[in-house]
Amino acid sequence: MGYSVRLAGRLAQPVRPHLNCTWYATYPDLGLAFTSMTGMAAPLPDALAPKGLEGVVANESSICYVFGGEGRLIYRGYDIADLAEHSTFEETAYLLLKGDLPTKDALKAFTAELKAAQKLDKVVLRIIKDAPKDAKPMNVLRTAVSAAVFTDPDRADNSPAAEYRKAVRLIAQLPTMVGTFHRLRSEQKPLSPRRGLSLAANTLYLITGETPEQDVERAFDVALILHADHELNASTADMHGAVTGAIAALAGPLHGGANAEVMKMLLEIKSPDRAAAWIRDALTQKKKIMGFGHRVYRTADPRAAILRPLAEQLGRKANQPQWFAIQQVIEDLMRRDKGLYCNVDFYSASTYYAMGIPLDLFTPIFAVSRISGWCAHILEQHADNRLIRPRAEYVGPMNRTWTPLRKRS
Ligand code: COA
Repeated sequence: MGYSVRLAGRLAQPVRPHLNCTWYATYPDLGLAFTSMTGMAAPLPDALAPKGLEGVVANESSICYVFGGEGRLIYRGYDIADLAEHSTFEETAYLLLKGDLPTKDALKAFTAELKAAQKLDKVVLRIIKDAPKDAKPMNVLRTAVSAAVFTDPDRADNSPAAEYRKAVRLIAQLPTMVGTFHRLRSEQKPLSPRRGLSLAANTLYLITGETPEQDVERAFDVALILHADHELNASTADMHGAVTGAIAALAGPLHGGANAEVMKMLLEIKSPDRAAAWIRDALTQKKKIMGFGHRVYRTADPRAAILRPLAEQLGRKANQPQWFAIQQVIEDLMRRDKGLYCNVDFYSASTYYAMGIPLDLFTPIFAVSRISGWCAHILEQHADNRLIRPRAEYVGPMNRTWTPLRKRS
């Protein structure tokens, strides 16, 4: 019996059942092979992804495409040479974010949004001021960007509109962050961004204190355009940078953030007799039940089995046996009706709660543990590294002709 399996749009060849596997797929053009294993332990596929994920297509994208062989680069279908000749960094940033070149009004509005967001918040400013003068500017920038979320007006909102606004603020603020640290470390007063300047000119002004001449501004603007994107970006993070990225990646509700979401669910359900109806209702609404499923385990998560009795024991001790009782109902129902097993977050949630740990510290505590694994992986990678750089399958437009601003409607 054959199956149809696709990876980034490519059909696996041949796709065939394999010993101990439900399917076994090879992608000769990518040098990859995968198995999906059920039941018995089976060896991992022989063909691992090449070191550094070189040549591996990890996702689809319509933003940018590097024609490696031809030495061509396009953003959203526009050749980089056209953009370098006609565009500005602001217009290019708009193109990358939105997918199309802006109209005159849209560009005006976008530029105004950038200008309005250039100033740094006090918290970020203080962090930059507190950085030692000999700190690496990249480390200061990473910390400043990370701290910018504390006071971002959209910090609690991950909707596409809010994410866009956050992106605009970051694009506007990075020049100020870089300039501010540079001025401070060279014993100069940091400067306020100047509204009348382009982003390129402002960046140079914030660093040097001088408004660049027109040809310098234009050359810098072109450099910014040329660096604005390059498909899936390479990973060359140092220890702190990699851990910062790892913490960010852990935070979401489908990953490390699930433990807090599990507890919110249990608190909402309140008592075991309400559990089955609550879950059925959520499933009818096609909601994901937090603490169930896993990208790799297709059977019980062994960590959940170990935490289960601890959750029960600590719940009893804290005089809160209801959480474990609710969990039993949910676990049975999910296995029976959906064939899904709980994962580690399901029982770590009630275990931490019984210990009196605040909900919003559940995921940070996950990080307190996972830091050991992250560091081990970073050390392993650094010891035997190859620049990590998968490719994206470009699905955006090609061969678009740049039209002057006045002709856009
Ligand atoms: N609740 C309800 N249905 C779920 C589910 C869950 N927690 N997890 C998976 N499913 C369903 C999916 O809807 C899908 O059904 P469909 O085929 O009818 O569309 C099917 O099971 C396969 O799921 P899929 O989304 O392909 O699994 P995945 O590998 O992409 O996702 C997770 C893995 C972890 C992201 C996913 O299981 C999830 O969101 N779980 C909840 C969050 C969580 O506990 N995360 C911590 C992981 S340690």
